[in-house]
Order: sequence, then C-alpha cells, then structure tokens
Amino acid sequence: MNLSVKLPGLNLKNPIMPASGCFSFGKEYSQFYDLSELGAVVIKAATLNERLGNPTPRVAETDSGMLNAIGLQNPGVEMIIDQELPYLKKYDVPIIANIAGSSIEEYEQVARAFQRTDGIAAVELNISCPNVKEGGLQFGTNPDVAAEVTRRVKAASNVPVYVKLTPNVTNVVEIAQAVEEAGADGLTMINSLTGMQINLQSRRPLLANKVGGLTGPAIKPVAIRMVYQVYQAVKIPIIGVGGIMTAEDVLEFLLAGASAVQVGTANFQNPMICPELIEQLPACLAKYGFRSVEEAIGKGHQSE
Ligand code: DOR
Repeated sequence: MNLSVKLPGLNLKNPIMPASGCFSFGKEYSQFYDLSELGAVVIKAATLNERLGNPTPRVAETDSGMLNAIGLQNPGVEMIIDQELPYLKKYDVPIIANIAGSSIEEYEQVARAFQRTDGIAAVELNISCPNVKEGGLQFGTNPDVAAEVTRRVKAASNVPVYVKLTPNVTNVVEIAQAVEEAGADGLTMINSLTGMQINLQSRRPLLANKVGGLTGPAIKPVAIRMVYQVYQAVKIPIIGVGGIMTAEDVLEFLLAGASAVQVGTANFQNPMICPELIEQLPACLAKYGFRSVEEAIGKGHQSE
C-alpha cells in the first residue's frame, strides 16, 4: 500500500504527523518510537524571544476534550535552532517549524531566523492561537490581515509556507482564499476552538486565562466541515487536524480533502498513537476500496 504524499516542500512517507504543541521537540517521543517513522514532525510554536506562557491552571480536561491556554510558551527561536533542532535533524523526517508573533515584524523575524538554518522543510504560520492577547486570532480572523502576514512571512522564508487557520470564524473560505492569493503554499486546519469550563466550587472559570482552546474528538466534525468547504474553494493542499483518534478518522479527513493529517490531543492519552495509525491505515484504506493515500484525497466530494 502506497502511503506516500508529495506536498510543496514535503515528501511524506505517510500522511501522519504530530500536531504542533503536542510533541514539543521530539525528545520525549523518541523514547517510544523511531521518529523517522513519521510523515513529518511539527515543532511547538516559535516566537522571537522566550515566552513563559499564561499563568496556571492553563490546561483542563473536560468531558468533551481538552482545553488549553498555554499561551505559546517556548524558549525563543534562537534557542530552538541551537538546542532543539540538532536532535530532531538526526532523524530522517521532514521538520515543519510552527511560527508565531505579536506583530507582523515578529513573524517576519522568526521566519528569517529559520531561513538561516538548514533542515527546515516548511513553515507553519500560526495565525490562529486563541490564547494570546496580541497575535494569534488577531491575525487569523481578518482576511486582509491574514493575507498581509502571509505575504510578509512568505517573503522572509526560503521554504513553503502552510498557514494554520482558526475555526473561530464564520468566513473560513474567504480567509483561506485570501491567504492562497497572498502566496500560501498550503493550509493547516484547524487550530483549537475557543471554550471555557467553570469550576462549581470556586464559581470561576477554571483556566487562569478564563478562555482556552478546545481540542480532541469533539471538534472533529467542525474540522471535517471546514476542510470540506475550503477544499472546494482553493487549489493549495490542506493538512487536516482536529480530534483524530483512529485510522477511520484519518480516512475521513482525506475524503474531506486533506492531503495529510496532524494528530494532537490523542498523543496525550497514547504516545504511540502516530505509529499505530501509520500501521493501521493500509488496512483501513483497503477496507474502503482505496489502493493508496493519494487516491482517497477529496473523494468525499465525488457526487457533486
Ligand atoms: O490551542 C492552542 N494552544 N493553539 C495554539 O496555536 C497555541 C497553543 C498555545 O500555546 O496556547
């Protein structure tokens, strides 16, 4: 069974990669499996300088999934390049750098810093973090602003740029088209869906940040719907993400129009989830009549 997928800048052995933020820089996961088995790895968002993130509590488990308000904690792009990337580069796997910032200039500077290093296959432009006051959703909810930051990061990068979109909008198609027009090479969708949990004892929102981003199976239908709608409106490839737990979930994203997928929350329950999905995918594809991953992409649109 051919699981390989060719995307701008990314020759994927298979379509499975861990989502940004759920994998850190790979060291923890390399205790469990050989990282070269993965389609790609996406590193935790990098900003120009170190960020400590939001005050705690900043993660909560709800009955419907995980809420996080981490707030882009990371050691800063130079530390990531010097301290974290050398370890990841030992593996035969494409590395995707997720980048974030509080201003367009910061996004540009982070993209430029990655340009100075080798071994980055693509940039994932994070304009959809719901947990920071400046940056994040500010850039991802307005088509003109999303296009401008895409244009500038594209000009500051020497690798393809995948723009990570938010579900917290009603005009995702317009935003996707705007970033495509601005030069995006691909899309990643979706980031987390804003939510809240209230503690009955304290009568207060449980997260110190009050609002957080919901992830896990509860958001899968939202992600499938958005991938499906955007697939019909753009030509650039889509990496699907949102609540994937099983090989059937992977196939559902492929049918909706995703060319590859990212696995997030499921890693916290089962750190072996990515290699397990890679192993299970061929039988799942065969069961539903597909001979390769490429063959399944977009097949949920056939009757239209
Ligand atoms: O849910 C999210 N949490 N999405 C992001 O893009 C960043 C992350 C965080 O650090 O808060």
